Amino acid sequence: MASGLILGIETSCDETAAAVVAAGRVVCSNVVASQARLHARYGGVFPEMASRQHIRDIVPVIREALAVADASWADLAAIAVTTGPGLSGSLLVGLNTAKGLAIARGLPLVAVNHLEGHLYSNWLHSDGHIHTPSDGREIEDLPFPHLALIVSGGHTELVRVRGHGDYVVLGRTLDDAAGEAFDKAARLLGLGYPGGPAIEAAARVGDPQAHPLPVAVTASPLDFSFSGLKTAVRRVVEGAAATGTPLPMADIAAAFQQAVVRALVGRVQRALAVGADRAVLVSGGVSANVALRQALGDAVDVPVRVPPLALCTDNAAMMAAAGYWAFRRGQLAPLDLDVDPGARLGG
Ligand code: KG4
Ligand code: ZN
Repeated sequence: MASGLILGIETSCDETAAAVVAAGRVVCSNVVASQARLHARYGGVFPEMASRQHIRDIVPVIREALAVADASWADLAAIAVTTGPGLSGSLLVGLNTAKGLAIARGLPLVAVNHLEGHLYSNWLHSDGHIHTPSDGREIEDLPFPHLALIVSGGHTELVRVRGHGDYVVLGRTLDDAAGEAFDKAARLLGLGYPGGPAIEAAARVGDPQAHPLPVAVTASPLDFSFSGLKTAVRRVVEGAAATGTPLPMADIAAAFQQAVVRALVGRVQRALAVGADRAVLVSGGVSANVALRQALGDAVDVPVRVPPLALCTDNAAMMAAAGYWAFRRGQLAPLDLDVDPGARLGG
C-alpha cells in the first residue's frame, strides 16, 4: 500500500465513472461519463440501455482516469468497486471489469457500498475546493461522530458516523427517495429528467405559499416519506387539467421543494437533538439543491459540509475514498464476489 493510490470504479446507475484517489482524500483524477441525456426521453433510467452503455464506456473511462492521474498500474494499491445498491446489470459491468483488472494486474479488490461512497464524498474537499495533488494545502480531518444525510435518486438515509466504517442508520425513507420524489414531481409537471435541477430552477420564481403541500408524518420521527407529496402534486395537476386552468408551475415547484427541504431539515434537527454530532455531512444528488443547503445552514449549530457539485452526483472518486479505508481495514473482496443490488449500509 506504498502510495495509497486507489482506482475507484462506479457503475451502479447511469454514470460510468473511474477515478484515482490518494490516501482517501486527494483526487488525482475523476472521470464521469453520464448517460443522463440517453435516459431523458424515458423520464428515468432505462436499465438495459444503462448496462449496454456502461459496457461501451467503461474501458475508455478507466484509461482516462489513469492518464489524467498520470498513474500506471504499478502505482496502484488496490481497485475499489461499487457492488450495490444499484441496478444489477449496471453493477455487473463495473464489478466484472474490476475483477478482470485485479486478476490481470495482481491487485487487491475492495467492494464498496454505494452509500458509503456518498458518505466519503465530503472527505474529498475543503470548503468546496476539491483536494488535488498540486494543492499544497493542509487537509483537516473531519470530526467524529457526525451526522450524514444521504439524499440521492435512489436513497434517503440519515446515518450517524462514529468512525471510519462505523455507521448507525437512524432513519431512511419508507417509500420514494428524495431525488426520486423530485424526478416524479418534475415528470408530473412536464419539467423533464433529471427533475431536481428542473424543479429548483422553476421554484426560483414561484411562491411556496400559493399552493402549500403536506409534509408527511412517519411513525419513527427519523424516517422519511415522500410518496404522499407526489400524490398531492398529481392532484393539483389533475385539478388544473379538469378545470382547464393554467398550471401554476413555478408555485407548485416552490411548494414541493419547500416541503421536501422541511422534511429533510426537520429530521436532521431531531437527530442532532439526541446525539453528540460535531458536524452534518450532506451528500448525494439532492445535496446540489441550494434551498436545502441554505435551510440546513440556517437550522443547525454545527458545521454543515456539502460536496461541490462534481462530487454530489455519482462519481468514482468517492468510491475510491471509501475503498481506501476499507482497504486499510483489510476488507479485501474474494474474486467470486457477486453484485448486491439491494445492499444496505452497515450490512
Ligand atoms: O446521487 P445521484 O447522482 O444518483 C443516485 O445515486 O441516485 O442523485 C441523482 C438525483 C436525481 O433524482 C436528481 O433529480 C437529484 O439527484 N438532483 C437534485 C438536484 N440535482 C440533482 N435534486 C434537487 N435539487 C437539485 N439541484
Ligand atoms: Zn448515488
